[in-house]
Order: sequence, then C-alpha cells, then structure tokens
Amino acid sequence: MKKFLVTMLLLAATASSAHAGLKVVGRGDAMRLDPTSFPPAMKANYDVMRTKCVKCHTLERTIVAIQTGVAPISGQPFDRTATKAYGIKMLRKPDSNMTKPEVKATVDLMNYLLSEAGQ
Ligand code: HEC
Repeated sequence: MKKFLVTMLLLAATASSAHAGLKVVGRGDAMRLDPTSFPPAMKANYDVMRTKCVKCHTLERTIVAIQTGVAPISGQPFDRTATKAYGIKMLRKPDSNMTKPEVKATVDLMNYLLSEAGQ
C-alpha cells in the first residue's frame, strides 16, 4: 500500500510538471493565457481566440476544458479528437460572429494547448 501511494504521488508530481507548460493568468472571468512562449502562428491564433471566443462566455470555459481534458458544461471528453466538433458547435451558434478560418485557427490553438497541458 505504501509503495502504491508513493507511486501515485510520483505520478501526480510528473503530471503537474507537465501542466506547467500552460501559463494561465488570473482566475474566474479574468482567466486568460500568457502567450509569451507560444510559437508565432499560435500567438496569432490566440489573438483570434481572445477576441472571438469571449462573445458569449469568458475564456475560463475554454481554459478549464484544456486543463482538465473535460468539457465543463457537458462533462464530455475534451481531447484532440473533440476540439474540431466543439469549434463547429460554437461557429453554428446564433450570432457567433466567426468565420470558418477563425474557428480553424482556434481549433489549431486548442490542439497545441492540449499537448502543452500534457493532455
Ligand atoms: C455565440 C455564442 C458563443 C460563442 C461565440 C462561443 N461560444 Fe462556447 N459556448 C456557448 C454556449 C451557449 C455554451 C454552452 C454549452 C453548449 O451549448 O455547448 C458554450 C460552451 C463552450 C464550451 C464547453 C462545452 C461543453 O460541452 O462543456 C467550450 C469549451 C467553449 N464553449 C469554447 C468556445 C470556443 C473555443 C469558442 C471560440 C471558437 C467559443 N466557445 C465561442 C456559446 C458561445
């Protein structure tokens, strides 16, 4: 049992160091990402996300999904196979005010962030 606990603690420590890749600033409605270390293409994609994906809800919803791997409202898995479907779902909402290329930019960014978050 002791050995099991030690293993679990080690696993938790490894997992949390992997999550250090995602730099989150602020909490709640003010939650956002620090894009300083993003590659240039992802910085541009983040500019799309932080202006377009905040029309109906804050970035917290997206960041929590990426950090936890679980979509916070539906409780469905939020992984690299799901990001595109969520992007399309958001695009199709009334008055989403987004174009397909903008949604693609945010989907590419979410896939990049998922691997940065160790998901
Ligand atoms: C037109 C309004 C609107 C825009 C724009 C919008 N969303 Fe949403 N979003 C919603 C609503 C409403 C929900 C509530 C749950 C649902 O309908 O899926 C939601 C839920 C979510 C969820 C949680 C889904 C779940 O099943 O738990 C995520 C993640 C998300 N949005 C990300 C995004 C991203 C990324 C963008 C930009 C590409 C975006 N949203 C743009 C309205 C919007």
